[in-house]
Amino acid sequence: MKAFISELPKVELHLHIEGTLEPELMFELARRNKVDIPFDTPEAVRAAYDFHNLQSFLDIYYQGANVLIHEQDFFDLTWAYLLRCQQDNVMHTEIFFDPQTHTDRGVHFSTVVNGIQMALSQAEKELGISSQLIMCFLRHLDEDAAFSTLEMALPYKDKIVGIGLDSSEQGNPPEKFKRVFERALEYGFLTVAHAGEEGPAQNIYDAMDMLKVSRIDHGVSCSQDATLMNRLATSQLPLTVCPLSNTRLKVFDSMEQHNIAALLHHGLCVTINSDDPAYFGGYMTDNFNAVAEALPLTRSELTQFTLNAIEASFINDDAKAVMR
Ligand code: ADE
Ligand code: ZN
Repeated sequence: MKAFISELPKVELHLHIEGTLEPELMFELARRNKVDIPFDTPEAVRAAYDFHNLQSFLDIYYQGANVLIHEQDFFDLTWAYLLRCQQDNVMHTEIFFDPQTHTDRGVHFSTVVNGIQMALSQAEKELGISSQLIMCFLRHLDEDAAFSTLEMALPYKDKIVGIGLDSSEQGNPPEKFKRVFERALEYGFLTVAHAGEEGPAQNIYDAMDMLKVSRIDHGVSCSQDATLMNRLATSQLPLTVCPLSNTRLKVFDSMEQHNIAALLHHGLCVTINSDDPAYFGGYMTDNFNAVAEALPLTRSELTQFTLNAIEASFINDDAKAVMR
């Protein structure tokens, strides 16, 4: 099965570029940029990655991003991830970035986007990996901050396909961003949102009905609501599920208890993704392997995750036809 999974072409739709910062690169950038980090070695950083919920992860994660300052840093970060994509047979990836994590520290929006974008263009040419960029609002920040971030994105509209919503779900429901998502849709962006990761099924309904999302990121709490399960099966609105993330953040106690196989068997358009692979112990192949080891899934069902991701991606129909 491992050889089969390794060879299987993959499409990633839920990946935070800041979440690909491996401790070794964190150290190199800290040295290069003379930024203090509260660890002595990369091993000590890894040992600190013992999370009990989403917030305990986010607190460490936003700290790690402080070493990213120059365009070259964002290039190096993105290029390292794309080399992992090549290793994992990822042929297309749709990448989240969180501009507010950087602009609030005085890093210019253009530094972030240009650094990432240069790596994406190089990967298209040299590795044959295609990609899209999705800009996320941090939902623990307020609506005004999201509106100004949206305005910053407008000069880069040709480089950014969609708008997403991430960070702390509890206490920050979709409703808080209804108006800014309406504006984003008017500007012609597609929308996605993290919903039903730690939060209730109601957040999934609200992301669909208030934010008009084209995909739900995570969405695993849908299984608490039979009506919602049927709506997702009928609409085929995709869920970008992140198995290793969910077990590392204790959304499920073990992979054996993960509901991804049940969602697939119910006919939902579910996909497998890595979320923040440097923090959760695995990239795409690792996520497929973890799921296949713990859950009763056939090769054709594992292939279905890739076929679902092709359909759920934001590439045009011609490009989808090539990948199928
Ligand atoms: N930002 C990075 N990873 C995230 C996750 N799993 N949930 C919410 N926000 C995030
Ligand atoms: Zn995520």
